[in-house]
Amino acid sequence: MKKILNMALIGILVLGLVAVSGCADTTADGATEAETPVYKIGTEPYFPPFEYADENNEIIGFDVDLMNAIAEDQGFEIEWKDLEFDALIPALQSGQIDVIASGMTITEVREETVDFSTPYINAGLALAVAADNEDIKSVEDIAGKIAVVQQGSTGATKADELKEEGIIEEVIYLAHVSDIVLNIQSGRADFMINDLPVTKSYISQKPGVIKIVDDQIQSESYGFAVRTGNTEVLDLINAGLANVQEDGTYDEIMSKYF
Ligand code: ARG
Repeated sequence: MKKILNMALIGILVLGLVAVSGCADTTADGATEAETPVYKIGTEPYFPPFEYADENNEIIGFDVDLMNAIAEDQGFEIEWKDLEFDALIPALQSGQIDVIASGMTITEVREETVDFSTPYINAGLALAVAADNEDIKSVEDIAGKIAVVQQGSTGATKADELKEEGIIEEVIYLAHVSDIVLNIQSGRADFMINDLPVTKSYISQKPGVIKIVDDQIQSESYGFAVRTGNTEVLDLINAGLANVQEDGTYDEIMSKYF
């Protein structure tokens, strides 16, 4: 008897919970609130100052603040997804995420598989070597050398071109910029090709490890990416971006990180 009573009590509790959660988006006067859309945004958050974790393991950075400002302006919510850089486009295509905000360069090749927002910042590729390297003083000195780059990045594409042209000897592909620098430090690779603002940020955080020998081997602009044809989300991002650029929020975020 006691058992049956307990079961009944649990049943009532469960029913109660279902009822409460069922009411969640009904306002006091009984009207149903318009649901705030939640978009999943993918990023590789080891790329300061664009996306990285702070002391509390919270994801912050230029892209993160900018995307949050756009979301606030356009009335949507964000769920951040941490992915490897070369997994971002496949994740977008398969519907695992809705947007990429990851310091992603707008390229013609990528435009065949995703749609980009209007460009939100200019960046470019820099060539860096170990701080004590006397051998490589510019891009002219890389013949026969070994490059290290981030997997799936435009730096990797650039290094591939140099290898195909027979200029450099080998290309090492790694997932994170911190590992790339380790390969320079250990002498396993001679030079790295990476986004200038990120390489600069590394140098200011850890001076004396690497140095830049060419700060513009390729100029680039970043965009937020959505699935091809997803104008619904793209329009929100472009409208929000224009608004936050106009109302000064963009400049505030800029001066926070640069
Ligand atoms: N801008 C480069 C590219 O689009 C590298 C971006 C890497 N971003 C990152 N969060 N790891 O290929």
